[in-house]
Amino acid sequence: MKSMRGLTMMMFLALGLFGSGVAYAGNSNPLSDAVSQGQQLFEKHTFEGAGRTCQTCHSAGGKGATVLPNGVRKPSIAGAARYFPRFNAKVGHVLTLEDQVRRCVAGGLQGQAPAYDSADMRAMIAYLTSLSQGKVIDMGGRPQK
Ligand code: HEC
Repeated sequence: MKSMRGLTMMMFLALGLFGSGVAYAGNSNPLSDAVSQGQQLFEKHTFEGAGRTCQTCHSAGGKGATVLPNGVRKPSIAGAARYFPRFNAKVGHVLTLEDQVRRCVAGGLQGQAPAYDSADMRAMIAYLTSLSQGKVIDMGGRPQK
């Protein structure tokens, strides 16, 4: 009897764990919704700027190469979330991923940077972080000069 109860408990636990995995994988839920909203913003939104989107420089939704308008190539931002927060020598202090998004909107897009406490920022961070899903956090691993 006791072991049956144990087994039932285990099955509930397994279902719970499996359930959360499936939830992330894309069925409609608040987290995956935020990831898709962030992807939409990344690929399509100009933030009232000069007409560029994030994808103008960071190709294929950020999964491809980073190529600047002047042709200079930089590493892909897929996996970039694992290097934040990080020290930026040019700026002179540590940048969070949110800080980096605001810098790219203001500089790269010449747009209105989303507020830290905004749905757009949350969605963008959810999307950028999803590009590092499963990768090891490596603070300080890609220094920015
Ligand atoms: C005009 C080109 C341009 C646009 C448009 C642009 N960025 Fe960037 N982005 C850069 C440059 C340049 C860097 C610094 C790359 C480096 O030093 O490796 C950068 C760096 C980043 C990084 C850190 C990458 C890393 O590995 O260090 C992230 C994340 C990022 N951008 C997100 C965005 C997002 C989100 C948008 C849209 C809101 C965006 N960028 C739009 C040029 C751009």
